[in-house]
Amino acid sequence: MRILILGGDGYLGWPSSMHFANKGHEVWSVDNYLRRDIASETDSDPLFPNPKLPERAKIFEAACGKKINVVEGDCADFEFMSELFEKVQPEAVIHYAEQPSAPYSMRGFDEASLTLDNNLKATFNVIWAIMKYAPDCHLIKLGTMGEYGTPNIDIEEGWLDVEHKGRKQKFLYPRQAGSLYHTTKVLDTDLLWFYVRTHELRVTDLMQGPVYGFITPEAEMDDRLKPNFHYDDIFGTLINRFLVQAVSGTPLTVYGKGGQTRGYLDIRDTLQCVELALKNPVEKGEMRILNQFVEQFSVNEMADRVKTVGDHMGLNVEVKSIPNPRKEAEDHYYNAANTGFKELGLKPHILTDDVLAEMLGQVADYKGQIDKDKIMPRVSWNKVA
Ligand SMILES: NC(=O)c1ccc[n+]([C@@H]2O[C@H](COP(=O)([O-])OP(=O)(O)OC[C@H]3O[C@@H](n4cnc5c(N)ncnc54)[C@H](O)[C@@H]3O)[C@@H](O)[C@H]2O)c1
Repeated sequence: MRILILGGDGYLGWPSSMHFANKGHEVWSVDNYLRRDIASETDSDPLFPNPKLPERAKIFEAACGKKINVVEGDCADFEFMSELFEKVQPEAVIHYAEQPSAPYSMRGFDEASLTLDNNLKATFNVIWAIMKYAPDCHLIKLGTMGEYGTPNIDIEEGWLDVEHKGRKQKFLYPRQAGSLYHTTKVLDTDLLWFYVRTHELRVTDLMQGPVYGFITPEAEMDDRLKPNFHYDDIFGTLINRFLVQAVSGTPLTVYGKGGQTRGYLDIRDTLQCVELALKNPVEKGEMRILNQFVEQFSVNEMADRVKTVGDHMGLNVEVKSIPNPRKEAEDHYYNAANTGFKELGLKPHILTDDVLAEMLGQVADYKGQIDKDKIMPRVSWNKVA
């Protein structure tokens, strides 16, 4: 298949580019390095450097003989997107190209405005480029479990059957995001659903939970093929921060009460899920929403897990609660459905103690490069800057 991967330089986009090229697909990997720019502006550089796309593609080709076509450009620019879609004629688009940091989106007006403009414009342009140049193409769009927020009822897979005054209708599941970034994902979903109804697009919208891990089979071929690993307060995920804190001898920082519960998955399962979506395309005029996570953990449970495994490795891990910089429920009901991918054939990876130990070992290889000043929260949710 001809597959366009938007956001191909990113944590998920790069492993996806290698994975699908390795499987023999014609891959076009597109990025404008927005994440790299924001990371250097906010002093949030990753644990180890990653070569830019053209160099990575060369290293990959030298390692396995497979080609990744690289295009450097901005998905928020419709002229660029028109030329790209007209030339590539994609059969599938995997759309990762957004500003994904919740803290960055809450930092101040400029950052909020950039997140809103970039994310909505990129998605709007993808939709229009598909309608104009590749109307049969299957769009696989990365959303987030954060779109649902933390409602006091079970989270269903995308849709909710509502019965009201004796009548019934299926609606998009009510969503109430906890950051502006997550809110742009909610708005993306609305845009997609609108154009599916009016223009018969084929869309799979993936509500993904936080992803962990950075070793995929292709990255094992050469260290320079690893994806970005952020542990800072801007781009670093909870697990990455805890791994780095455990390795560097700093207490694991739990925000507030630590009851915040989310659904997590291994990066190898992200690749599996996207591939399953690709192999099972939806019909024209259909919007499929799948919850993409494997296991639920609270922040306290995750801290306990890292502490137990770290202590076993002699790291002597401490856990400390700090004031929560976010506005979020710290103790709440959470029960989300995730049967869709299992029905499609997902064979999930579980976050076992061995997997945690392996990740701690991988992070320890870069211990000398850890900058502890990057980890503590610098952005507070209720500040107006
Ligand atoms: N990593 C996770 O845990 C996670 C969880 C849920 C959802 N997601 C979603 O998955 C997608 C990928 O996330 P990631 O972790 O790989 O983030 P990332 O920041 O590492 O990758 C996103 C890439 O998109 C690029 N990009 C952004 N705007 C662009 C534009 N206008 N034109 C071209 N390129 C652009 C960035 O430069 C970056 O390389 C995002 O949409 C994110 O919201 C990620």
